[in-house]
Amino acid sequence: MLEAIKNRRSIRKFKEEEVPRYMIEEIIQSGVLAPSAKNRQPWKFVVVSGNAKADMVSAMGNGLERERERPLLPNVSQYISGASYTLKIMEKAPVTIFIVNPVGVDIHSSLTEEEHIEELCNAQSIGAAIENMILTATELGLGSLWICDTYFAYDELQTYLNTEGELIAALTIGYADEAPNARPRKSMDEVVEWRD
Ligand SMILES: Cc1cc2nc3c(=O)[nH]c(=O)nc-3n(C[C@H](O)[C@H](O)[C@H](O)COP(=O)(O)O)c2cc1C
Repeated sequence: MLEAIKNRRSIRKFKEEEVPRYMIEEIIQSGVLAPSAKNRQPWKFVVVSGNAKADMVSAMGNGLERERERPLLPNVSQYISGASYTLKIMEKAPVTIFIVNPVGVDIHSSLTEEEHIEELCNAQSIGAAIENMILTATELGLGSLWICDTYFAYDELQTYLNTEGELIAALTIGYADEAPNARPRKSMDEVVEWRD
């Protein structure tokens, strides 16, 4: 497991080679084994590959175009070109898994304190599931990219997914066609405060 943690990288170049279905099943199975607040297991997975990719790409592409003209997230518009690049990666990758929270609150709603806490707990649970998934992908010799640029096309992807719940993230998976170096990490001194 430590090897997978050390060797995992975000992969942005994938080979066209198909990923066997049993591997995708194993990756999702490792996601559902994650711990979750109150054992709510706040996740659903929509697996997009093959001919189904075209509608996904078109939905996110339309969302990014709309975001440029009528932004839902005007304060982070500097990241839209990055999101277009992410979409190109999703177009090329053989598989994208959307992770939806079936009990999540729409990003347009305001929240009570209790709902806010439940959302935070669900987000942590989903993060644990996705981490399990990307480590399993690494273990299986696959590359992966955890994606939240999908928020720029939130409404369009919600319509495309047509499933109850809140879109949380996407995960592209495939055989890596690059071997990036590890990106820098903050030092232990920067992030840890010991209280003895
Ligand atoms: C919640 C989350 C969202 C991310 N969203 C994107 C994304 O939309 N597009 C992208 O190219 N990378 C995305 N990444 C990947 C990060 O850029 C990457 O994890 C970080 O730069 C560290 O690099 P490494 O994963 O290779 O260690 C995301 C990562 C996380 C955890």
